[in-house]
Amino acid sequence: MLTKILRIDEVHKNETAIREAGEIIKAGGLVAFPTETVYGLGGDALNPASSRKIYEAKGRPSDNPLIVHITDMEALPAIVKSVPETAKKLADAFWPGPLTMIMEKSALVPKETTGGLDTVAVRMPSDAVALAFIRAAGGYVAAPSANRSGRPSPTRAAYVAQDMNGRIEMILDGGDATLGLESTIVDLTVEPPVILRPGFITGEMLRQKLGRVEEDRTLFSDDSGQAPKAPGMKYRHYAPKGELVIVKGAAETVTDYINEQLAGERRNHKKTGVIATDETVAGYRADVPRSVGKRADATAAAKGLYRILREFDDEGVDLIYSESFDGEGVSQAVMNRLLKAAGHKVINV
Ligand code: TXA
Ligand code: MG
Repeated sequence: MLTKILRIDEVHKNETAIREAGEIIKAGGLVAFPTETVYGLGGDALNPASSRKIYEAKGRPSDNPLIVHITDMEALPAIVKSVPETAKKLADAFWPGPLTMIMEKSALVPKETTGGLDTVAVRMPSDAVALAFIRAAGGYVAAPSANRSGRPSPTRAAYVAQDMNGRIEMILDGGDATLGLESTIVDLTVEPPVILRPGFITGEMLRQKLGRVEEDRTLFSDDSGQAPKAPGMKYRHYAPKGELVIVKGAAETVTDYINEQLAGERRNHKKTGVIATDETVAGYRADVPRSVGKRADATAAAKGLYRILREFDDEGVDLIYSESFDGEGVSQAVMNRLLKAAGHKVINV
């Protein structure tokens, strides 16, 4: 299959391309598209054959449910059993945007899309290209992140192409994703609601609207022994090809410890990478040192993390050391992804 890549600079100037992408979805094909979080691998959410194709293209186990993307609240009642009050409040506050809500599904949504579950994950993205594309595709687009299973989520079209060339009909290139980390997922089928994946819409923001909201602490910390609640969380995700280790401690101690390790690895002819910050990056003697930005700027870290992980892959890095990102809000989302990429390997110094 030849994968067509179409650059979309502005929706109103590229209507033909967006219409063409929509037709591919309606005909049961797959199109990768930009969202404000990461690129999605889209198919018709109401067509079981399309969802099966998504799993195949991703190389993903078919018990891992997909997120259904919509463009307006009028689309919601048809795919859920009933619209919970909590969903209305959160939609008012955070849709369109980087929030996914889990609700009881209606019969319209095939089990292939929900990985066999009776619940469905729904998100209304804010990206203009995403919205125009979903509309052109009929209003219900199932989309996981557009990476091959086990690779970091793609934040630009070139990364989608690396993973998906020849496997899907089209890639809509809308430039770099503005946020760079996947949406917050909140389960509204339980009382109180539970955050299954941290993101830009933080626990604090959700609590302001709903009162009590629980956070599964295992999502943010390295002391996880508990089974994850989102089926996708059980798979090793966002994994770079090299081994990744997080080093926690006082800034200077961390730098000294990592440099000691790097010296040893060099003697073993290993290619090394470091994930650091603007304040510390110059102090590392790694083959591929990378900064995620200023330490205080978690938003920059969120935006750069997956790009940096892919750069290590491209450079053939064998071993990566990362500083730790501790803090509230978006830092927690960054740390959650980093811990998963590291397979929870953390060294306290
Ligand atoms: O920002 C995002 O959410 C991106 C963009 C493309 O919208 N999408 C994304 O999809 O990250 P994906 O498939 O990579 O991650 C979806 C996560 C998986 O961990 C999956 O297990 C969980 O959502 N999920 C989906 N439906 C669920 C359900 N009904 N119950 C519990 N977890 C669910
Ligand atoms: Mg994903």
